[in-house]
Amino acid sequence: MNRGKVAMVTGAAQGIGRAISQRWLEQGGSLLAVDVQAQALQELQALWPEQVACAVLDVTADDAPAQAMALARSRFGRLDALINNAGIGRPKAMHLTDDAELDRFLDVNLRSVFRFSREALGLLEPGACVVHVASTFGLMGNPGASAYAATKAALIGLTRQMAVDYGPKGLRINAVAPGLIRTPLIEDRLEQAAFRRLMVDTIPFPRMGRPEDVAGAVAFLCSDDASFINGHVLVIDGGWSATNWIG
Ligand code: NAI
Repeated sequence: MNRGKVAMVTGAAQGIGRAISQRWLEQGGSLLAVDVQAQALQELQALWPEQVACAVLDVTADDAPAQAMALARSRFGRLDALINNAGIGRPKAMHLTDDAELDRFLDVNLRSVFRFSREALGLLEPGACVVHVASTFGLMGNPGASAYAATKAALIGLTRQMAVDYGPKGLRINAVAPGLIRTPLIEDRLEQAAFRRLMVDTIPFPRMGRPEDVAGAVAFLCSDDASFINGHVLVIDGGWSATNWIG
């Protein structure tokens, strides 16, 4: 399905980004995998040696977008999908968030996405797409999530803005907004009763989200089946943000 197509996934080494990468590769596409975790990227490449190129980069580095796009160009000669997935979590309430922490959230979760997207515009042809990995926290208020939620809401604004500016050129720009997805990002917080009460007991579905749930949604948004979907935010949360359920 993706044969001959190339995706760039940031944060490809683990969790949601790894699942998105794997789905793309299983569908026959090639992948430019971006992450700071060299060993995990090498393990991914060992599984699909023909299809994967690795860029061990910190997405916040000034030259990271240019380096990643140069590698996509030299190795594959094209880019069909940019998946801006790399992100950090564990936010605090505003009064507990210092400037350094605020800047880190803005840098990783927002500024890098803006800069990777801008750089990709030079490579993306009509028919290509961008998917930002936002969050349900960007759509609704949650306790103690200030800087994180602000960056994810900004990604939703950026999605709509890019859709209007670049949709007319034949690009599609969408976002996914996952709810709780079981990854290393949240694993240890599952032991906190308050976190479980807020995030797990309130999912009107018998299980938590899995990285594969997000990978499936991203695969759909990148596919021809979504060829008229532009500027959309696809929520993947088992109904959590649409309801007031408590189990
Ligand atoms: P994770 O922590 O398991 O994986 C994140 C990946 O991004 C890691 O491989 C990490 O090395 C990489 N990364 C982080 N900062 C980087 C940087 N500066 N440069 C290069 N790579 C970097 O997290 P997870 O859960 O897979 O999250 C992925 C995305 O999904 C994030 O944007 C997160 O905000 C979002 N998300 C996650 C949810 C969840 O419940 N797990 C819910 C909603 C959104």
